[in-house]
Amino acid sequence: MHTVQEILGKMSIEEKISLLVGAGFSKLVHGAAGETRPVARLGVPAVVLADGPAGVRVHPLRLGDAQRYYVTSFPNEIVLASTWNVELVERVGRAIGEEARALGVDVVLAPGLNIHRHPLCGRIFEYFSEDPLLSGVMGAAYVRGVQSAGVGATLKHFAGHEQETNRLLYNVAASERALREIYLRPFEIAVREAKPWAVMGAYNKLNGKYCVQNEWLLTRVLREEWGFEGLVMTDWGAGDNPVEMIKAGVDLIMPGSDQVVAELLKAYERGAIPGEVVDARARRVLELVAKSPRFRGQEGSGDLKLEEHAKVAYEAAVEGAVLLKNEGALPLPEKPRVALFGRGSYWTVKGGLGSGDSYPRYVVSIADGLRERGALVDEEIERVYRGMVHRFYEYGESLQLYRAYREGALAKSDSWLIEMLMTHFVDMMMEYTRVMHLQEDPFTDAFLEEAAQRNDAAVITVSRISTEGFDRFPVKGDYYLRDDELSLIERVSRVFHEHRKKVVVLLNVPGPVDVASWRDKVDAVLAIWLPGQEAGRAVADILLGRVSPSGKLPLTWPRDLYETPAARTFPGTPPRDPEEVIYSEDVYVGYRYYDTFAVEPAYEFGYGLSYTAFDYRDLEVKLSGGEVVVRLKVKNNGRHPGKEVVQVYLRALESKLSRPFQELKGFRKTRLLAPGEEESVEVRVPLERLATFNGGKWVVEKGAYEVRVGASSRDIRLRAILEVPAEACYDTSWRRVEC
Ligand code: BGC
Repeated sequence: MHTVQEILGKMSIEEKISLLVGAGFSKLVHGAAGETRPVARLGVPAVVLADGPAGVRVHPLRLGDAQRYYVTSFPNEIVLASTWNVELVERVGRAIGEEARALGVDVVLAPGLNIHRHPLCGRIFEYFSEDPLLSGVMGAAYVRGVQSAGVGATLKHFAGHEQETNRLLYNVAASERALREIYLRPFEIAVREAKPWAVMGAYNKLNGKYCVQNEWLLTRVLREEWGFEGLVMTDWGAGDNPVEMIKAGVDLIMPGSDQVVAELLKAYERGAIPGEVVDARARRVLELVAKSPRFRGQEGSGDLKLEEHAKVAYEAAVEGAVLLKNEGALPLPEKPRVALFGRGSYWTVKGGLGSGDSYPRYVVSIADGLRERGALVDEEIERVYRGMVHRFYEYGESLQLYRAYREGALAKSDSWLIEMLMTHFVDMMMEYTRVMHLQEDPFTDAFLEEAAQRNDAAVITVSRISTEGFDRFPVKGDYYLRDDELSLIERVSRVFHEHRKKVVVLLNVPGPVDVASWRDKVDAVLAIWLPGQEAGRAVADILLGRVSPSGKLPLTWPRDLYETPAARTFPGTPPRDPEEVIYSEDVYVGYRYYDTFAVEPAYEFGYGLSYTAFDYRDLEVKLSGGEVVVRLKVKNNGRHPGKEVVQVYLRALESKLSRPFQELKGFRKTRLLAPGEEESVEVRVPLERLATFNGGKWVVEKGAYEVRVGASSRDIRLRAILEVPAEACYDTSWRRVEC
């Protein structure tokens, strides 16, 4: 086998340039998002790139092949972050990496590390958190997992890609401080901690230049300051000038076309792209190819280990569910009779749509999960819902519909693009229609009265879906509940409460929805998000008390949409096709805003209830070897086994700068603690993490800090004072400099 240098030495300029441009949607693995161009005479294979964050997105059908290529659908990233369980997220990454490898995919186009800036971002489900530390740590864990399987991971979308409206064109105007402290930070953490094979440049512009044509972003920050050694690719169709992309630091333009190859070649010939630049970019592509399974002749074993990975998906769905309210309703009694309302109870939404979607063998609905775990699900209510749904809306039937179409009209066609658009479009429309438009309250008073008599409790699922390409809307039916949903909650609550029976609401949603207008009416609220294929099993085990909820919110759940920090600038100006999105809230994103300006959220960052109760004691804080070492004991003082997420926030008491009230600086999830059991928890915070970006450098201010340890950002249980004896300053590569 030749080294990268030898191969490069033998290449013609045409071959080198061809490496910098993708070969379009993948032909090697059907439904994969792209592949690179091979150079067969030198033994350089094409490598395959596939989405995505919640499972490998390949298409289950292949022309002329009776086999089905289903994958495991894992919970979306927002759910993974809600687990606060780093080890578990690493295992999810590993499982996705193993499936990619088995399918012949060399590089996974995930994780997404954009920030939850606004609750209506259409891809909020594909990103981890509003907090850069939580996002970065989770992103690094995900990357370590994927890459431990021998395939690559890709950090996306670099950077400032926090919305979908006009996503190919808008410009983000943000201060350098906001970028460094909030928006670039997750990428920086993941680059340093996990060495991803690739980074994907985002569609939007950042401070006036397309991200993929932005030398400051791609070369100065990513390569020079952070020392990134992997490959930089564009998002699919990003930017408007391929020559500028290559000059700014892009190695691979995706999805690519012959026209772009020709354009680059011409630019090279007229001297607009120097030969060394072509060499440097081609070398990066070859380095990635050389790491890939395909380079070693491995095209995928086909053994996806779906049974084993289903267990990982289940665990992540359980630990990612967040109990928002519980007034004696949960867990339900043994073998309960459950009146199950809401379309999402029967057609549970597993994940968001678009490139973050994936195609599993099955999705366990909440109804099926409850039945499987021994609950009695009311059949009459189920019959009403099933009667309202057109038969094509059953999961998987869209594929059959498509197959029929394909075998007729497209049988001889090898147009992969048409195939892909057809299937994805059909699937998307089916799911969308089913979820968004089914009427929720067709029940008469007498029907509800009888349902309350014959059941032990009511469970109502509220569902929403979201997709790449669109932000969610501040309207009834999306962020707000529809009138029929509200009347269902209101009427079921009234009738069941008259019979002294409890009412539980499950939120099967990509991100926050309005809760303020109805939450007082019900006894319990559990956010299950978009929990992947094992949805029903995970939810049933929590409802039935087989496992105690342990998820915590990775973002603030607002009380009112118009009280959110980016309310006035999302999705930018002009409101239709916005060109400018001004991040005027600066570093005051998420809880950094709510806490500093004393705004009451519905549920704060880091919040989540459990069936058991934890006691915090014996806090010790010391500075040792450049780290703040935080030690404490956490004891399960309740009656159920459970896990707790210990969160460490720091507050600068003597700051000379404008700083958020407090910031998350570390966290740890305990092991499963039996009642009465205690764990000693240690969280180490490198001193540099206390820095704020000021005057072109990172500054750790001297003086007193309050170390705040708690079960959420507003449920602080223990406090200590930390004295930082001297100011310390760092450059953007974290080298010590004069202050
Ligand atoms: C998305 C990326 C995705 C790519 C390939 C783009 O539209 O923004 O996240 O990886 O398509 O499917």
